[in-house]
Amino acid sequence: MSDIKETGENAALLHAARQGLAAQPKSLEPKWFYDEAGSALFEEITELAEYYPTRTELAILAHNADKLARYLPRDGALVELGSGASRKTRTLIEAAPHLAAYLPIDISGEFLHGVARDLRQLYPALEIVPIVADFTRPLSLPAPYHKMCKAGFFPGSTIGNFLPTQAADLLRQVHEWPQMEHFIIGIDLVKDAETLIAAYDDAKGVTAAFNRNVLRRMNRELGANFNLSGFAHEARWNNDCSRIEMHLVSLYEQTVTIAGTHYAFHTGETIHTENSHKYTKDSFTNLAADTGWRVAEFITDPHDLFAVAVLTPAV
Ligand code: SAH
Ligand code: AVI
Repeated sequence: MSDIKETGENAALLHAARQGLAAQPKSLEPKWFYDEAGSALFEEITELAEYYPTRTELAILAHNADKLARYLPRDGALVELGSGASRKTRTLIEAAPHLAAYLPIDISGEFLHGVARDLRQLYPALEIVPIVADFTRPLSLPAPYHKMCKAGFFPGSTIGNFLPTQAADLLRQVHEWPQMEHFIIGIDLVKDAETLIAAYDDAKGVTAAFNRNVLRRMNRELGANFNLSGFAHEARWNNDCSRIEMHLVSLYEQTVTIAGTHYAFHTGETIHTENSHKYTKDSFTNLAADTGWRVAEFITDPHDLFAVAVLTPAV
């Protein structure tokens, strides 16, 4: 199709759509949810009664802020992966006024820059350096921060959105960044399927709108012709892989056209749009050990719903 610029973000989305929708089964990576509307929908999810991870992790961070602040380097930098609204980070920043810089990394560029503007107002003494990037790709931090001592922060259990092999690659990448002293990670824990499915299929339909946002985005950015009401949101618990899966289920036989290519869907066929892996203390400790990290702290809430782990380089 002629009106799609084959450069930059649109070209990357077009490439992903071509690959993911031609494959069997059809799939798209969850990073494509996050344009400005998708980031705002995620923030709405965090307020839902069914979505326990955000409030639980916030409470763990608040109750342990002083302990966690001791892992953040004096005159050093806090580097966050998938920073979103940076709400949780504020707890750490406020407990660690000795930090010199905050480097939030996120793929959702407009949203990130808006958050960075607000943070500069709130914390004028802290250097705020937003980095718009895909952290699944090789990423070197800006040169001025190479020599500075650093701690990483990866809250939200976003690590769960990656296959264990990809999660391992991410942990290795952060381990290789120079002067990285600690890595604080949020991990959603294995629990009963009912609680998990409710968290990913809320009564108000916000998660359904978040899931369908990837179709809306392809319509807007690629000129695709998805009928949003032709796809149902579904959350499934995959016990073998210890993960929640989100799918968009075609409600009837249909053909969708993207940039001149036709993609046929039969009734009930799905686009697999997200995995959200759930860990145990043991499974996460093994993952960390395989990637050069040692678990220094593993802090859970009183109901063992969620954990915040502090990793330190083992080698
Ligand atoms: N850390 C926040 C937001 C979690 S939502 C919290 O805990 O509430 C996941 C965030 O990761 C989103 O802001 C999304 O834009 C970002 N993200 C997802 N995949 C990414 C990738 N591959 N590279 C960079 N950012 C990514
Ligand atoms: C960002 N990530 C950890 C969320 C999760 O729980 O997997 C994204 C999400 N998907 C549906 N609801 C929230």
